[in-house]
Amino acid sequence: MMKILFLDQSGKPGGAELCLLDIAKTYRDNCLVGLFADGAFKELLEQQQIPVQVLTNQAIKVSKESSLIQGLSSLSQITPLISKVIKISRNYDLIYANTQKALVVGAIANLFTNRPLIYHLHDILSLDHFSKTNRQLAVTLANRFASLVIANSQATKTAFLEAGGNPEITQVVYNGFTSKNYDIDESKVHQIRQNLEIEQQFVIGHFSRLSPWKGQHILIEALTHCPENVTAILVGDALFGEEDYVQQLHKQVAELGLEKRVKFLGFQADIVPLMKACDLITHTSISPEPFGRVIVEAMLCRKPVIAAKAGGAIELVEHQTTGWLVTPGNSLELAEIINHCRQHPELCQTVAQQAQILASQRFELTKINQQISQLLIGVMSCDEERKRLRKEILTAEQRR
Ligand code: UDP
Ligand code: GLC
Repeated sequence: MMKILFLDQSGKPGGAELCLLDIAKTYRDNCLVGLFADGAFKELLEQQQIPVQVLTNQAIKVSKESSLIQGLSSLSQITPLISKVIKISRNYDLIYANTQKALVVGAIANLFTNRPLIYHLHDILSLDHFSKTNRQLAVTLANRFASLVIANSQATKTAFLEAGGNPEITQVVYNGFTSKNYDIDESKVHQIRQNLEIEQQFVIGHFSRLSPWKGQHILIEALTHCPENVTAILVGDALFGEEDYVQQLHKQVAELGLEKRVKFLGFQADIVPLMKACDLITHTSISPEPFGRVIVEAMLCRKPVIAAKAGGAIELVEHQTTGWLVTPGNSLELAEIINHCRQHPELCQTVAQQAQILASQRFELTKINQQISQLLIGVMSCDEERKRLRKEILTAEQRR
């Protein structure tokens, strides 16, 4: 079995990390996950008996919007990390970079060790999310050093190609899910609603980290166009320093007098029982969502879902068949669909039922992991072929 060194810059369990967790499980006897920060993600890996090591105790200070100069100075900061990764990667067959900074480090390690590099791209490389410099850096490094780029959706792949990414190395693989994990005993649901004092309400769930582009403010605004009994629970926290946005959301709720109708529940390790306690799930990203795990999770929980019509979400939801799609940033349109759902519970149930069936087939983890495994085997055999040819050429040259 091939030995894989996974690299991820985050210590926190964002969507890209939760996706990696499910992939790395398959390789737990032959892999190491190297993180560039400590945190709850490390604990999740340990709970799943996946070997993990935090490779640096120094925070890497480079934001998604950073300039070239900042980028270069951060490169000097990460020299010890790079040396460590080069050393470790000699014991593995493949380097699997799961985030942008992991790509930078992985590319350098590839240069020194010749271990094939895979880049799992979880971001839409548009200027909404990235500075021109960072986008260029990702594309240049991927084209030059990666043998394979795994895009988490067609939308992510398209943006990568538009930014100059090489189509020949790029493949789309969706996130995988274990559908039975979302099929829980619902006896606790009533208790949850009671504890949250939302028994009599029509409850809308929003399950995303609190970040301006995730658009929680759009849902809050939409509530003002819905009847009083429509309530929202916001599950998630600011994971990447978006505290200002959190303040802003609280202020918005207070100004609109919605304190009783909006509940901030913070980050929850197990979202399933809470999703089950909702009548409807909304996804409100105002920039194109690269994939959108929460959308699939809502479907697997058999809950009707309304998603923002952009990016990967369009590939996940078929409007009025497996959910609803609304114009990103349009709170009035969102409210209209919420009210439509509220008035048509049977329709919602049918849609949610269809979505559950389709999602459990399309995104089944074992199937997705097989796709990834096939791609990795392909990379390994190309690499062996390349090495064999090189050896042949060298021998021929020596004979001459
Ligand atoms: N999530 C969670 N607890 C929370 C909020 C979110 O476990 O309190 C999970 C959520 O279920 C999903 C992931 O975090 O699996 C977020 O992934 P998504 O692709 O939706 O968005 P990202 O944050 O990666 O952009
Ligand atoms: C990223 C994206 C999200 C995606 C996740 C898993 O965090 O923002 O849309 O679902 O990765 O691929």
